[in-house]
Amino acid sequence: MTYLVTGGAGFIGSNYIHYMMKKYGDAIRIINVDKLTYAGNLENLKDIENNPGYLFVKADICDAEAIEKIFKEEDIDKVVHFAAESHVDRSIKDPLVFVKTNVVGTAVLLECAKSAWENPDGSFKEGKKFLHVSTDEVYGSLPDDDSAFFYETTPYDPHSPYSASKASSDMLVKAYMDTYKFPANITNCSNNYGPYQFPEKLIPLMINNALAGRDLPVYGDGKNVRDWLYVEDHAKGIDMVMENGKLFETYNIGGHNEMKNIDIVKLVIKTVKELLPDEDPRKKNVSEDLIKYVEDRKGHDRRYAIAPDKIKKEVGWQPDTMFAEGIRATVKWYLENDKWLKNVTSGDYMKYYDGMYGNR
Ligand code: NAD
Ligand code: DAU
Repeated sequence: MTYLVTGGAGFIGSNYIHYMMKKYGDAIRIINVDKLTYAGNLENLKDIENNPGYLFVKADICDAEAIEKIFKEEDIDKVVHFAAESHVDRSIKDPLVFVKTNVVGTAVLLECAKSAWENPDGSFKEGKKFLHVSTDEVYGSLPDDDSAFFYETTPYDPHSPYSASKASSDMLVKAYMDTYKFPANITNCSNNYGPYQFPEKLIPLMINNALAGRDLPVYGDGKNVRDWLYVEDHAKGIDMVMENGKLFETYNIGGHNEMKNIDIVKLVIKTVKELLPDEDPRKKNVSEDLIKYVEDRKGHDRRYAIAPDKIKKEVGWQPDTMFAEGIRATVKWYLENDKWLKNVTSGDYMKYYDGMYGNR
């Protein structure tokens, strides 16, 4: 079974590849296609780079020739499409790259997979599937009062250039399913946290800043709510939808773990303080005094909350890691992987490709 994973050098993609290699071992082959933007880091996959079942290809998903070549050279059974520009704040500053990668890149992938998998009569070869990894942000914003949730039937109402580009990519996948009966699923997941997340996102940014004794910037009143899921549970959900999800269906993935941003920030501070050894000089700086309320994000969605009923009922998925355990494991991972964090923040990780693959 050969998987084409796009964006596998990023946060969720690299966790997914680890999860799949551990679960299936030699029974699968993974081809990881990644452009290695600032968010792509091959150090995330250092431990498996020489595994015979793993191949890295540096390519842009917008490059139709490069993607077509992969489909010609390899008999791809499954596509798991993570590659995207993923950070809302960056999309507010520079929307066009989001449109290019998230919309055009998805269109290129769909077209290449369709050409490779289509029979002369317009049907598709047995066993092929394209899983499009998307976000709950396409549904917009919920009221503060806990009365509503995002269901698969909730109308799309994206607000940021990021979520609008992801919504557009979902619509393209839907168009291929509706028009050609292209074998696909869409998953819409809530906020992920865990190892290998780039320290521009809330949790790793707060860990990194707390360790450096820098301000912890909380947007607006800090009461926006996000629904947090441990990244390995997302990887498990994607695998289960690939295996057991009904073709042409959308599945929401989330673990009913809604928290206000300010409570996350306080918990991160407490956990970092607890896990740092007493003799570590950084420990004395870690306190709630570092919290600084700053200008709100433009168009900031108030609350996200996934209703995961469908994936639980139809696919049998449920999360394994409770938040209290997951946040501890995450902070511990960042403390134990100080070098990874330093390489990422200094930009040194960008040199890894040249050292490892530069001669190819
Ligand atoms: P990330 O930014 O950490 O990783 C994105 C990866 O895609 C990087 O390795 C990057 O190099 C690669 N990439 C970017 N542009 C590319 C291009 N043009 N061609 C090839 N590769 C390219 O993102 P993430 O947080 O791991 O998110 C992965 C996917 O999951 C995205 O589609 C995102 O929308 C979705 N998602 C993320 C979350 C979350 O909480 N992080 C939640 C739900 C859904
Ligand atoms: O819901 C799924 C989405 O979650 C994914 O689709 C996105 O790819 C992913 O980046 C994430 O988007 P968010 O915008 O929710 O994540 P972020 O970590 O950027 O912010 C989480 C919340 O914390 C949000 O309400 C903004 C706030 N925030 C964020 C940062 C970086 C702060 O208050 N201060 C900060 O410095």
